[in-house]
Amino acid sequence: MKKKPIILGIETSCDETAVSIIQNNGKKPPNILSNIVSSQHNIHRKYGGVFPELAARSHLDKIDLITKAALNKSKIKLSQIDAIAATAGPGLIVCLSVGVNFAKALAIALNKPFIAINHLEGHALSPKLETNLNYPYLLLLISGGHTQYLTVKGLNNYKRLGTTIDDALGETFDKTAKLLGLKFPGGPKIEQYAKRGDPYRFNFPKPILNKGGCNMSFAGLKTAILRSKNLVKTEKDVYDLAASFQKTILEILKKKTEVAIQEFKKKNKANQFIVAGGVAANKQVRKTLKDVCLKHNFKIIFPKEKFCTDNAAMIAVAGLEKFKKRKFNKLNFRVMPRWALDINAKFLKGPGVIL
Ligand code: KG4
Ligand code: ZN
Repeated sequence: MKKKPIILGIETSCDETAVSIIQNNGKKPPNILSNIVSSQHNIHRKYGGVFPELAARSHLDKIDLITKAALNKSKIKLSQIDAIAATAGPGLIVCLSVGVNFAKALAIALNKPFIAINHLEGHALSPKLETNLNYPYLLLLISGGHTQYLTVKGLNNYKRLGTTIDDALGETFDKTAKLLGLKFPGGPKIEQYAKRGDPYRFNFPKPILNKGGCNMSFAGLKTAILRSKNLVKTEKDVYDLAASFQKTILEILKKKTEVAIQEFKKKNKANQFIVAGGVAANKQVRKTLKDVCLKHNFKIIFPKEKFCTDNAAMIAVAGLEKFKKRKFNKLNFRVMPRWALDINAKFLKGPGVIL
């Protein structure tokens, strides 16, 4: 019997050095043989955000060790790997280059195909690690650098329905946390603090809530928080502000998801909604979106928390999908710091944007 393909996935687009090995499992989701993630949060904490040069150096230091760890854990020899998939964009160019060059070197040494993966496609396909998923589906991608509603029609076939016109949602969580003096990465900290606070204490704006379709804006919210900062004196104030901030985000996501569902329904009979990316790890975000889907008779799927935040298993699964279609890349493929999923979507960032 022919061996089921084994894919090695590499992720180094930002501040996680990650390697995963997965094996195709016929009609079932793939077997995840290993999924190693080494986070650099300790390196970047004192800067309050990712320091690109240090991130790249740390990827360089660790990529071979993490790959060895992934091989050991999976009990797979390099010679058994059928293809090497690596995140080739979007992301920090110095960081992407480490993973892609390492992947290309492995591909040459093993004489196996190299597959360039769009990090966002990794997030979009991440539920395939755990469940069989039919196209089309509605996707909300909420990560540190991206916030988009998309119709996923198939592999490499995306239609953007809405996007943020300024900051990404994860970035908004991180910046708010920084204003409150909470440690990087702020998203999980805000969630933790919000549990103890009064969500009705502060009233924050919800920019473009009732216009612009399912496009979103978070920059005004951040400015309002900056203004409220002088009211934050005690620990209780921090809890209250975190809770009020999170409640505002939940209200925006609720409204915009309802609009996105209506948009999606105009062109599709399917009723599946996937929420992926780091912010999808937030339990209150999950609960709010579950309730919206219940109301609209949509089935909601969240990847497990470890597959929401950056990881290489999602890169490997996107690699496997491309491997099945023999979509390989040449070794002169250049990393793409900007790489949209829907290349036809209008650029909607910056002042003067007309929605
Ligand atoms: O997908 P991801 O790991 O990396 C990117 O591709 O950006 O997302 C990271 C983002 C960070 O902004 C982080 O603060 C946010 O996801 N995040 C959260 C939570 N866990 C991670 N935001 C809110 N609540 C969480 N529990
Ligand atoms: Zn990501």
